[in-house]
Amino acid sequence: MSRAVSRRLFVPLLLLGFVQVALMKTFEVKDGNKTCLLAEFSANFSVSYETTTKKGSTVLFSLPADAQVNQDSGCNNMTALLVVSFGGGHSVSLNFSRHDRSYKMDALTVSCNEGDTALFPNASHIDLFVRTSRSVNISAKVNTTYRCMSDSTVHMENISVTLSSVRMEAFPPDDDFSKTESICHADVTPTVPTTTLVTTLAPTTATPPTRNPVQGKYNVTTSNGTCLLAEMGLQLNITYTTQDNKIAVKVFNIQPNITTSSGNCSSDHASLQLTDNWTKLNFLFVVNTTINKFYLKELSISTSFVSPAKGKEFMAQNTSLTYLQTTLGKSYMCHSEQMLQVNPNFSINAFELHVQPFKVDNSKYGTAEECQMDKDDMLIPIIVGAALAGLVLIVLIAYLIGRKRSHAGYQTI
Ligand SMILES: *[C@@H]1O[C@H](CO)[C@@H](O)[C@H](O)[C@H]1NC(C)=O
Ligand SMILES: *[C@@H]1O[C@H](CO)[C@@H](O)[C@H](O)[C@H]1NC(C)=O
Ligand SMILES: *[C@@H]1O[C@H](CO)[C@@H](O)[C@H](O)[C@H]1NC(C)=O
Ligand SMILES: *[C@@H]1O[C@H](CO)[C@@H](O)[C@H](O)[C@H]1NC(C)=O
Ligand SMILES: *[C@@H]1O[C@H](CO)[C@@H](O)[C@H](O)[C@H]1NC(C)=O
Ligand SMILES: *[C@@H]1O[C@H](CO)[C@@H](O)[C@H](O)[C@H]1NC(C)=O
Ligand SMILES: *[C@@H]1O[C@H](CO)[C@@H](O)[C@H](O)[C@H]1NC(C)=O
Ligand SMILES: *[C@@H]1O[C@H](CO)[C@@H](O)[C@H](O)[C@H]1NC(C)=O
Ligand SMILES: *[C@@H]1O[C@H](CO)[C@@H](O)[C@H](O)[C@H]1NC(C)=O
Ligand SMILES: *[C@@H]1O[C@H](CO)[C@@H](O)[C@H](O)[C@H]1NC(C)=O
Ligand SMILES: *[C@@H]1O[C@H](CO)[C@@H](O)[C@H](O)[C@H]1NC(C)=O
Ligand SMILES: *[C@@H]1O[C@H](CO)[C@@H](O)[C@H](O)[C@H]1NC(C)=O
Repeated sequence: MSRAVSRRLFVPLLLLGFVQVALMKTFEVKDGNKTCLLAEFSANFSVSYETTTKKGSTVLFSLPADAQVNQDSGCNNMTALLVVSFGGGHSVSLNFSRHDRSYKMDALTVSCNEGDTALFPNASHIDLFVRTSRSVNISAKVNTTYRCMSDSTVHMENISVTLSSVRMEAFPPDDDFSKTESICHADVTPTVPTTTLVTTLAPTTATPPTRNPVQGKYNVTTSNGTCLLAEMGLQLNITYTTQDNKIAVKVFNIQPNITTSSGNCSSDHASLQLTDNWTKLNFLFVVNTTINKFYLKELSISTSFVSPAKGKEFMAQNTSLTYLQTTLGKSYMCHSEQMLQVNPNFSINAFELHVQPFKVDNSKYGTAEECQMDKDDMLIPIIVGAALAGLVLIVLIAYLIGRKRSHAGYQTI
């Protein structure tokens, strides 16, 4: 009863206030009875093609109202594919995959039928263009709706697609969009001043040098079980050029509660990728078989957390590192703060680090090899203790000699 009443009140409101939203179509893909993919978006396409006069021509069009879910769409428990067909044999398809605690769009594919003379007048061929981009930056935590009202453009050779007013969710727990939203960076930045952004997103960075990062526990687990274990608190230190051409340093912590881990392992390569809404960190460990040790060989970052002048992302990588060398089968441990310099503009301060990328047995760490700094820390008490013991010995000897002397003195009298 009360439900019907509220709905009746709500509908006119919708019609008055949100006509555009109401017109936007929701594309839905089902896996049996279960909704496995929901998507709302508007898309503008720009397609260049060759005409019969050998001239290039470019057409611009928007996703038309006849767009509908194609039967090629489908899901299994790990991947979801939405194919939207429109016009005279064109389509756009979105390909999602599920990860541990997140889902992401792997590929966006556009196919255009040049034979559609209404759209491509005087085309020299009647081919089907098929263009795919695998670098669409759409990902969100499981059980949240990805939302991005801002425009984002994907370039694929002769086709460009501008997506806007995007709401998408792969594998929603209920058959509707989740209430919790993962908002894209482009939507956040313009409306929220940087300082607020920092305090709301990374409260620990308010006074960076004094607040240590929270230790996160990460693992890489494949069908063969867990192959990489890592525990660490990470503080990132980035030097970049700001939009008004100043050099700035940003220090912020990785927050484990919003970070997901993924990766893969072989017998001599193990990668760990840590991802949150703004930052991707990649660690690659390899084995040096001559000395039977593993080490951290590559570290890379891309982050939109700082906005450099040129380009939207800060990126850095180093593929020739030799950090964290440890005997194969053992784990590397360092309680002390350790700095991992990646390049002159990027370093990581690692706290309470414990990592094992190879030969993880039964999801447990092997024997720990402690870092030199921890050993040095241990050395100080040992040196102090040894010095004290030496002092006691000297006093004792002095005392004994003194006693002997005074004894001898009595004898001469
Ligand atoms: C798409 O094209 C339409 C019509 O040209 C325009 O009104 C709209 O602003 C465009 N949207 C985007 C996201 O570029
Ligand atoms: C996905 O499906 C496969 C077989 O269809 C099954 O073996 C696997 O356990 C499923 N995984 C999850 C996470 O449900
Ligand atoms: C989805 O994307 C993956 C990775 O790009 C690709 O291997 C796979 O073939 C795609 N699936 C479909 C149905 O397009
Ligand atoms: C998502 O929601 C479903 C149903 O509410 C729950 O079973 C599942 O554990 C949740 N997953 C995550 C990663 O929060
Ligand atoms: C297609 O070609 C015809 C004749 O060659 C020409 O008149 C017409 O303007 C062309 N149309 C376009 C859109 O180029
Ligand atoms: C960050 O890096 C800069 C430049 O390398 C350095 O001067 C500064 O001390 C670092 N800050 C922290 C907290 O590590
Ligand atoms: C470091 O940052 C400065 C200033 O943003 C830039 O000019 C320089 O190319 C960067 N160096 C590297 C190795 O990325
Ligand atoms: C993550 O943890 C920090 C403290 O470490 C907390 O302030 C923040 O609210 C947490 N965020 C979420 C989404 O749980
Ligand atoms: C393993 O992970 C790395 C980095 O995440 C990636 O570049 C590579 O393609 C992955 N390899 C496989 C076989 O999935
Ligand atoms: C393995 O270690 C040895 C001794 O430190 C070194 O000479 C060699 O270059 C290393 N090999 C690789 C592939 O890193
Ligand atoms: C990578 O790191 C090593 C060791 O810290 C350093 O010598 C080298 O210059 C770095 N390479 C780049 C491209 O920054
Ligand atoms: C791996 O990480 C997942 C997600 O955080 C967690 O549920 C699982 O217990 C971890 N496994 C191990 C062996 O630590």
